Amino acid sequence: MAGSQVDQARPSAAATPLALKFCGLDFASPIVLLSGCVGFGEEYTRIEGFSNADAGAIVLKGTTGKARLGNAPHRVYETPAGMLNAIGLQNPGVDYVVEHILPELDFSETRFIANVCGSTLEEYVEVTRRFDQSPIDAIEINISCPNIKEGGVAFGNYPEMSAQVVAACRRVTRKPIITKLSPNQTDIRENARRCIEAGSDALAVINTVMGMAIDVATRRPVIGNVQGGLSGPAIKPIALLKVHQVYEVARQHGVPIIGQGGITTAADALEFLIAGASAVGVGTALFYDPMICRTINDGIAAYLTTHGLKNVTQLIGTLVTTRETQDCAVSG
Ligand SMILES: Cc1cc2nc3c(=O)[nH]c(=O)nc-3n(C[C@H](O)[C@H](O)[C@H](O)COP(=O)(O)O)c2cc1C
Repeated sequence: MAGSQVDQARPSAAATPLALKFCGLDFASPIVLLSGCVGFGEEYTRIEGFSNADAGAIVLKGTTGKARLGNAPHRVYETPAGMLNAIGLQNPGVDYVVEHILPELDFSETRFIANVCGSTLEEYVEVTRRFDQSPIDAIEINISCPNIKEGGVAFGNYPEMSAQVVAACRRVTRKPIITKLSPNQTDIRENARRCIEAGSDALAVINTVMGMAIDVATRRPVIGNVQGGLSGPAIKPIALLKVHQVYEVARQHGVPIIGQGGITTAADALEFLIAGASAVGVGTALFYDPMICRTINDGIAAYLTTHGLKNVTQLIGTLVTTRETQDCAVSG
């Protein structure tokens, strides 16, 4: 499926307990380093002891048709157990990424996934088409971008708009498409179903949860963009439930999930795998521990040994539950 020119040169993932196939791609580990938290795949390689090979895949920063400078400051703000960000998709544009960044990446170490963004349907298509003609292994569609033709509402908040983006991108690439679902919507199951029917090979669950912070001294929003995306441990319980809900739909179609949102430990990663994720994303945690990948890999491997499991895939969706989640269920 992946049309990469360097496939021939790659060793296939050895049959280690952490190795798995994801959309036909060999992942050496279930860990995926998340978009916006690792630059364009080169950023952490300058840190002593860090290796891209510790991750099954790395998702590059969100990329648009033309270069973008991003939002006015402040762009990030630490919150209890998390952080708000509104970077504004700062990136050098797809031509630069394909011509100058991809040739510098070592594709023998890990799989590289593009993160496609757009303000219009046409822009999503243009960026996807450009990556289709590159060595990138897969294409993640970030449907959380604002649709300027619809007054700036996020494509990903509406199943119909989400499906339109996926279907249009599907027409211009044969590489695996991973659609990144937003938690900021009414029915994530319906959105997942529509994206699968539109041709998505996999789903990433979840993107950030929208939030804000106010500086009481000035009575102004802290974030230049007023609102930002909340990430980190604060969103983990939300993300876990969304993965569980999406898995109810995705498993019927054999579509794998990259579970993400607040993962900082091996135990967190295991929870997502048990809930139904085939791979697990790590983003915000990298900011305070760039070596966290190894710690999580070691913790998952130890769990497999303790529980007599030969491979991490044996854990996927093994949640023991007597009932499906009810949307109307209340907490109190
Ligand atoms: C600073 C920052 C920038 C991000 N940029 C992007 C982006 O360009 N595209 C995207 O799809 N997600 C982006 N995200 C969302 C992450 O990829 C991830 O889905 C989210 O942060 C949840 O995972 P975490 O809690 O492990 O960070 C960004 C997150 C952060 C913190």
